[in-house]
Amino acid sequence: MAGFDDPAFYGDRWAGVYDEHHAGMDPAPAVEFLAGLAGDRLVLELAIGTGRVALPLAGRGIAVEGIDASEAMVARLRAKPGGESIPVVIGDMAQVPASGPFRLVYLVFNALFGLLSQARQAECFGNVARVLDPGGVFVIECFVPDLARFDRGQRVQARAVTEDSAIIELSRHDVAQQRITTQIVTLDGQGTHLRPVALRYSWPGELDLMAQQAGLQLRERYGDWDRRPFDSSSRGHVSVYQRD
Ligand SMILES: C[S@@+](CC[C@H](N)C(=O)[O-])C[C@H]1O[C@@H](n2cnc3c(N)ncnc32)[C@H](O)[C@@H]1O
Repeated sequence: MAGFDDPAFYGDRWAGVYDEHHAGMDPAPAVEFLAGLAGDRLVLELAIGTGRVALPLAGRGIAVEGIDASEAMVARLRAKPGGESIPVVIGDMAQVPASGPFRLVYLVFNALFGLLSQARQAECFGNVARVLDPGGVFVIECFVPDLARFDRGQRVQARAVTEDSAIIELSRHDVAQQRITTQIVTLDGQGTHLRPVALRYSWPGELDLMAQQAGLQLRERYGDWDRRPFDSSSRGHVSVYQRD
């Protein structure tokens, strides 16, 4: 496999700058929400990355394990205080290479959409159900697709402009594949840097059907980690699926 179809591709390309690019994202509301569901039981983060959420969760005394496809992302996690003590399997989150059983499995920051087909996302739901305790929950955080962002299948956005640099986001939207392919391009004194992202989005109802087919039922859905109501103005959702 090469390029976007390689599970390690995103992480290997982003690991060097991931924390810097996402420094403005506060994990605290997610950590508070997830800690409330974990209790004193074992927890699994799919696509654990550099530990943005897992490290503060583990810091609260919760036993967290992780899966990630990218050795480079996990090396960043390992280099942080407490990172060495979180067990991480390098592997494909669609296959969930873990045994559990877990009280809580979670997948935040739209990472489910990094599985680039409906079949791969459904496979992930099925394997999460396999490793959950009866009554255990799967929590996902996803954006709600906003197709109005695109003009005839494309979007160009100036994300940051300074005296010495510019960051431009270039996206193509394939409505038939439900896929958005993006390059975040940084132009600076060192040259041009390409940071690629490919996502296959799913609608909330589509996710609920994948969950049902896996034996998971939607228990709660919120507009964000602070439990604001989910409604037609919500730009994202936090959904809690429970194993039968
Ligand atoms: C947007 S980052 C999220 C990292 C972390 N969960 C966070 O919230 O900061 C996406 C992560 O998914 C990982 N990833 C992408 N595809 C994967 C796959 N098929 N299996 C396992 N990990 C994958 C990447 O390596 C990367 O660490």
